Amino acid sequence: MIANHQDSNPTAAPCVMVIFGASGDLTKRKLIPALCNLALDGLLPQQFAIVGFATNDYTTEGFRKMLGDEIPKYAPGPLDLKTWDWMRERIYYVRGDFQDVEAYKRLREQIEQADQIHNTLGNRFFYLAVAPRFFSPIVKKLGECSLTKEENGHWARVIVEKPFGHDLESAKQLNQDLKQVLTENQIYRIDHYLGKETVQNVMVFRFSNNIIEPLWNRNYVDHVQITAAETVGVEHRGGFYETAGALRDMVPNHLFQLLTMTAMEPPISFDADQVRNKQAEVLHAIQPFTPEDVLKNTVRGQYGGGIVDGQRVAGYRSEPDVSPDSNTETFVALKLQIDNWRWAGVPFYLRTGKRLAQRTTEIVIQFRRTPFVLFRNTSVRNLETNRLVIHIQPEEGISLSFGAKVPGSVMKLGLVNMDFDYSTYFGLEHSTGYERLLRDCMAGDATLFQRSDMVEAGWNVIQPILDVWRALPARGFPNYAAGSWGPIEADDLLERDGRPWRRIGEEEVDKRGRIAVPEKTGIIT
Ligand code: BG6
Repeated sequence: MIANHQDSNPTAAPCVMVIFGASGDLTKRKLIPALCNLALDGLLPQQFAIVGFATNDYTTEGFRKMLGDEIPKYAPGPLDLKTWDWMRERIYYVRGDFQDVEAYKRLREQIEQADQIHNTLGNRFFYLAVAPRFFSPIVKKLGECSLTKEENGHWARVIVEKPFGHDLESAKQLNQDLKQVLTENQIYRIDHYLGKETVQNVMVFRFSNNIIEPLWNRNYVDHVQITAAETVGVEHRGGFYETAGALRDMVPNHLFQLLTMTAMEPPISFDADQVRNKQAEVLHAIQPFTPEDVLKNTVRGQYGGGIVDGQRVAGYRSEPDVSPDSNTETFVALKLQIDNWRWAGVPFYLRTGKRLAQRTTEIVIQFRRTPFVLFRNTSVRNLETNRLVIHIQPEEGISLSFGAKVPGSVMKLGLVNMDFDYSTYFGLEHSTGYERLLRDCMAGDATLFQRSDMVEAGWNVIQPILDVWRALPARGFPNYAAGSWGPIEADDLLERDGRPWRRIGEEEVDKRGRIAVPEKTGIIT
């Protein structure tokens, strides 16, 4: 059963959470801290237990100790000791190989024991925090050991981490493999971007404000920009990144989540499938890329050495586990068209990259210009346009810029900003971003998880780009300096259409809320 997202506080049902790859980073950095936050807020049931499963040589006691030592280093806020004591008593560990049938028998015994001790009513969910090559084999083994059977009202669910497939074909294969064992309603494909408060707010902002939705279409919107910029390089993930690249790593998942939330039609309810139907429609409406479109409307880049946050940093090709002549892209920019009634003719520009000038994820809605006629005989020479920016991270908020008369006897216009800042209004939450997603899975609400058709529709858009890029390996890499805003071609992509990227970090708002924009976009005079 898939629950209804309308319930603003779905109750997590009694269950055992089984973490595959439990000794890895995700468990101590995100999963257990998120569960502690839920427990602290009274959102976890008493009837709850965790079984960690991995190849590392821990006993249950050793595993509890390791987590107790490590979590305070990563948790987003101070660890509440009473909560940790509560959680600690509910954690178990099974050592085993993901391919070994005997290990699954031990796992089954441990789950049953935890079920009895904590009265979890036979409900369980499996979190696959493992390398993608293990997804299919693990689910197959779970099926063989009858661990995924839902009977007598008990449920069994599986959360799959990204990357979900490497291209369209492998994503389809993975969906098929999982569906041999599980029904679609048992599969929760997680995308941590949907755990971000501001991403969830896009829907609320659009559909709960009567002044917003009427403007949200081709009649009023000139274009949309979606940026996910990082200052970090590939860190210790060079090996993985060499096989992925920025396009696979960020676009069909995170950026498409932002895109579909922004562009979708209003669903008839917050029911999981109603919302996901509307998101899927957006992906299906994206105009397919021909090889010519790929050459014209996509840009790839790779960072060379440079300066980020005042520190000199190495180029991508000098990162650990990266080939010295690697052609893997660390930056991508795309221009998409959504071929439907609402968005026909409105370009969506997407960009993401590593080692960029500033860490920022944001959605920019750039509105059309008003007629100039009224100002023809005044000293005003140029009218700026309204712009709505949804700031996803690191600051969370929404800003709307609009023109206002500068006080004085001469007609002068200024661009001013109206800002809503999450932390100012609601206070800072010590959240990992996984709380909501874990609780939703325990409550059977799949609204914020990807359905198989959405995953495939996303890859379907990306596949022609992968094909052309493979056939024509990049030349001239590295083509942007670490600490810049990416290759010059990314600017050309918009300039060709007479538009600039929003100049993030370069706008200063003065004490009166006026935006002092650098020369290029110009304050209105
Ligand atoms: C991950 C990517 O999915 O998202 C990483 O694999 C990327 O390469 C990360 O750094 C970005 O997430 P966030 O939440 O920091 O924007």
